[in-house]
Amino acid sequence: MDRGHELLALAVPIAREAAELARTMRAAGVDPVATKSTLTDVVTAADRAVERQVREAIHAARPGDAVLGEEYGDSQKASAVRWILDPIDGTVNYLYDLPQYAVSLAAEVDGVVVAGVVINAATGREWTAVLGGGAHADGRKLSGSQQADLRQALVGTGFGYAADRRLHQAAVLAGLIGDIRDVRRFGAAAIDLCLAAEGSLDAYYEKGLNAWDHAAGGLVAAEAGLLVTGLAGAAPGPDMVVAAPPALHGALHDRLVELDAEKGP
Ligand code: IPD
Repeated sequence: MDRGHELLALAVPIAREAAELARTMRAAGVDPVATKSTLTDVVTAADRAVERQVREAIHAARPGDAVLGEEYGDSQKASAVRWILDPIDGTVNYLYDLPQYAVSLAAEVDGVVVAGVVINAATGREWTAVLGGGAHADGRKLSGSQQADLRQALVGTGFGYAADRRLHQAAVLAGLIGDIRDVRRFGAAAIDLCLAAEGSLDAYYEKGLNAWDHAAGGLVAAEAGLLVTGLAGAAPGPDMVVAAPPALHGALHDRLVELDAEKGP
C-alpha cells in the first residue's frame, strides 16, 4: 500500500468517529463557549471535544506525527507527516442545526497533502481522496462538472467573519453574479470543495480560507480533475482558493482577477 492509501486508511475511521461525536453532541444541544476573531466567529464545546478526540487517536496510532488543528494549533513533530484537521467545518451551521457541517482531515507528507477525508457529520456523506489515486464518494469515482460556460455555472463561495472582509467579498460577488448562473453559500468550505468535485457545484472560490478549511476538500477536488489554485499562478491559500474544472477555471479565474478578489482586507 502506498503512503497516501496507508494514511487514508487511518484517517477514515478516525474521521467517522469524530463525525459521530459531533452529531451526538449536536443532538444534545449546542451553545457557543467562546468567540475567536470576531463576535460571530464562535467555538463550541463540540469543536474542542472533536479535535481532542482526533488528536488522541492520531497520537495513539502514530505518536511522531504533528497535528495542525483549528482549535488547538500546531504540534511538534518527529516524522515527515502532519495532519490538518478542522474538527467542525461549518461551525455556524452546527450552531443553528443546519445539516451542512463536516469533519475535515488531511495528511501531508513533507508539506504535500497526500490523503484527505471529509465527512458531513449531519448526513454521513463521505468524500475521500489520495494523491494520484483519485477522489471517491459513495463508492463512485468523482470527475467534476462538464460545464464549460461560465454564464451557466453554479458557483459556490463563502464569506469570512470580519465585517470589512465580508464587504469586500460581497462587492466581488456583486461583480460576478451577472456573469454566472447563480451562487450558493452553504457555509462549510470543505463540503463546498467536495460538491465541486462531484459536480453538484460547477465551481467554487473563496478568499480567506485556512489550511484546515481546504486541505482535505482541495485534494478531493484536485483528484476529481479540477484545477485548485490561487490567482495569477499562486498556490491555493488564504488569499484565494479557486476550484473549477479546466474548461471553466480560466474564465472564473480571470473574472476574479478583474474584480480584485484577492485584494482587500
Ligand atoms: C468556515 C466555513 C465557511 C467559510 C469560512 C470558514 P469554520 O469555517 O468553512 O463556509 O465561508 O471562511 O471560516 O469556521 O466553520 O470552521
